[in-house]
Amino acid sequence: MTKTDNQQQSAILVTGGAGFIGSHVVRHFVQKYPGYRIVNLDALTYAGNLENLRDVEHAQNYVFEKGDIRDAALLNRLFEKYRFDGVIHLAAESHVDRSITNPLAFVETNVLGTVTLLNAARDAWKNNFEGKRFYHVSTDEVYGSLGEEGYFTEETRYDPRSPYSASKAASDHFVRAYFHTYGLPVVVSNCSNNYGPCHFPEKLIPLVINNIRQGKPLPVYGDGQYTRDWLWVKDHATAIDVIFHEGRTGETYNIGGNNEWKNIDLVRTLCDIMDELLGKPAGTSQQLITFVKDRPGHDRRYAIDASKLKNELGWEPTVRTEEGFRETARWYLENEAWLQHVLSGEYQRYYEQQYQ
Ligand code: NAD
Ligand code: DAU
Repeated sequence: MTKTDNQQQSAILVTGGAGFIGSHVVRHFVQKYPGYRIVNLDALTYAGNLENLRDVEHAQNYVFEKGDIRDAALLNRLFEKYRFDGVIHLAAESHVDRSITNPLAFVETNVLGTVTLLNAARDAWKNNFEGKRFYHVSTDEVYGSLGEEGYFTEETRYDPRSPYSASKAASDHFVRAYFHTYGLPVVVSNCSNNYGPCHFPEKLIPLVINNIRQGKPLPVYGDGQYTRDWLWVKDHATAIDVIFHEGRTGETYNIGGNNEWKNIDLVRTLCDIMDELLGKPAGTSQQLITFVKDRPGHDRRYAIDASKLKNELGWEPTVRTEEGFRETARWYLENEAWLQHVLSGEYQRYYEQQYQ
């Protein structure tokens, strides 16, 4: 979809816009494209939080619709009401540990939900796909696990190893199948680990920051030598913008941070940053580090080769990690009310079960 396509009338459906990445994507599009109408469809599960969008909730070009992507009748009504030109699909169950305890929830939302959404777009656009675009936001975890060397490219064979990544892989396959079978104009991206404000504190970085605040143990799975490639979440939002507007239909783009960290090194760095921000003696928070039972099927290393995106569309990450980690830690310290609200009863139950 190009920006010149009827910019004044464009209506974009963003699913999962109240979640971590979705809220940054919604804000980015609402602020950058006043001529677009951005409709955020979100079921507000434990991970969805409208507080993430407080600063844009009254914007003229923003609408929130509460609902489930598995609800075909609702989707049909929304396509009829808003006449969407594009879909940016982020709604998902996103946490690997939860997928290990409840895989079916991941099949329900990530697979069934995605296919229901694909059907709605195909039927609403009635095979006249001119100017339309269905953008599916996916993960590098579909590629499986790397050894010490090498990178995931767009050609890497799918090899998902957790129920989460298997469900995302299945959804990616369905999206591509709708391109080949029905001609639906799709584009897919597979991104590495994001971090930044509004990250739900079940995930490693916000969990560590929050536990340091509370003086609680910092659980590091296994030997701590697992590696992830971390990307500043607002850089992901700009990559999605570029791919949505300029990516080639039917193509896949990998997105990454060029920024590999072993978990234990990352946790130690966060400890040092937090000591500094909290005015504690150096080394205080590192004493909280606790090695715990490993995650079953834990992927050893992810690393993205994002050269296709750079060479074709000119996108590159902009934020240096230590600066991003510091800004993230500061955000959590300055937004205690946000943290208190998400650390609700449901979170406490999850935490006790996961780390008992
Ligand atoms: P998140 O868990 O923070 O947010 C998911 C959002 O989807 C929530 O607002 C939730 O309420 C909503 N949702 C869940 N089920 C729904 C349903 N059935 N109907 C409507 N809404 C529903 O997730 P995130 O970390 O922001 O990830 C967003 C997307 O990006 C996901 O598709 C994920 O697979 C992908 N992704 C995430 C990362 C990462 O590091 N977090 C990296 C690469 C790709
Ligand atoms: O790679 C992209 C993926 O990144 C996204 O698709 C997922 O939605 C997102 O949740 C994330 O998955 P990870 O499993 O990599 O993220 P998580 O923050 O759960 O874990 C990061 C690493 O830290 C991983 O190696 C597991 C480890 N870990 C995690 C937790 C929660 C710990 O050592 N201790 C913990 O308590």
